[in-house]
Amino acid sequence: MHFKVTPSALRDARVTVPGDKSVSHRALMLGSIAEGRTDVSGFLDGDDCLATAAAMRALGVTIEQPGPTELVIEGIGLHGLSAPAADIDLGNSGTAMRLMAGLMSGQSFGSVLTGDASLTGRPMGRIIKPLTSMGAAIESDCDGTPPLQISGGLKLRGIDYKLPVASAQVKSAVLLAGLYAEGTTSVTEPAVTRDHTERMLGSMGVQLSAEGGRIALDGGQALRGTQVKVPGDLSSATFIILGTLLSQDADILIENVGVNPTRTGVIDILLAMGADISLENPQLLGKEPVADIRVRASRLQGGSVDPALVSLAIDEFPALFVAAAAATGKTTFSGIGELRVKESDRIAAMADGMRRLGIKVDESEDGAVVQGGQFTGGEVESFHDHRVAMSLAMAATIATDEVIIRDVDNVDTSFPGFCDRLARVGGEIEVLNA
Ligand code: S3P
Repeated sequence: MHFKVTPSALRDARVTVPGDKSVSHRALMLGSIAEGRTDVSGFLDGDDCLATAAAMRALGVTIEQPGPTELVIEGIGLHGLSAPAADIDLGNSGTAMRLMAGLMSGQSFGSVLTGDASLTGRPMGRIIKPLTSMGAAIESDCDGTPPLQISGGLKLRGIDYKLPVASAQVKSAVLLAGLYAEGTTSVTEPAVTRDHTERMLGSMGVQLSAEGGRIALDGGQALRGTQVKVPGDLSSATFIILGTLLSQDADILIENVGVNPTRTGVIDILLAMGADISLENPQLLGKEPVADIRVRASRLQGGSVDPALVSLAIDEFPALFVAAAAATGKTTFSGIGELRVKESDRIAAMADGMRRLGIKVDESEDGAVVQGGQFTGGEVESFHDHRVAMSLAMAATIATDEVIIRDVDNVDTSFPGFCDRLARVGGEIEVLNA
């Protein structure tokens, strides 16, 4: 499928966005190995999380979905999972692959984790290394990419692991394996990353400590089933925030969005560019902070994006590139090399798309400089990357002419209903069948 987006006037509106992807994955995995039932509301029924749900069912867990965003997970305890009958296909999801690798390393049976063309090209050495030093045995393709063949029945021991890259996926994989390890497992982060795993483990009764960038837990602790209310996904809300900022005069309220401080780098970066964004009605949904986000059309200004905010905004750079193109002057991004190993090489993909729409972008290995300008019409590639597709769709709302964004099927991995939401705020978007 492709998107056709016509220059549009966004209008005042109140909207919601689908549930948080990271929290939804974790609810499935942790609820499955908890004792007793976990009720989930606000679940993201996107392809990535549905792949995790299918994986947990293949491992013997009963998971019902009484409504699209509701789950009832019958937890079977730390040692209740059973061998899957076939390879586990995690689709497009790096989070599912890396967290499941940690979980599978602690099982008494072997498993094979695989995925689509994008996922089977992504680096797994970053989890294989710490999990192997805990005693797991994992085989990958020779370049460290999936499929991963994980042996079962091995005794794991706790390690103190210093993460070489700031990655919540790697941190979570090690902590999940740590639940099955003898002794204490700790991870020390080079920069703060999203802490949903830690918060949810805590809400399920696991004792863990987090001090000075070091997170530690003792193995063998039982998880207790609980209620998980999933907040709206700030990463999805970002596209609506972006469209509103770029619009002529829209004023949009996005309700019930997760604003965990380990995720709000995008808001800080946009505020520094002059955005009019405020948080209203802040509250806690379980252990996760949420708020309504009010955004108004703003004149953005370029500058240097603070590299200290990168790990707190890691998924939002495709959208931030578009914000930079709509800003006055040039915007310099640095320390964003991790973007090259996401669902696509996001620096290259965004540079390609924006250049095709008349924007000047200079790339370096771990950065980019975007010159503010005017988006023209044209045809761009999404490189099968959901966030690239949605970012370019938002750029198209302020282009001089119609934009076709190719191969957008993967938008459903994180933001099912994206077109409806965009149309509700005045975006003129059409889905074309390829
Ligand atoms: C995620 C962590 C991030 C992020 C991904 C979701 C998670 O990856 O890009 O979309 O749920 O833990 P890294 O931690 O590898 O940067």
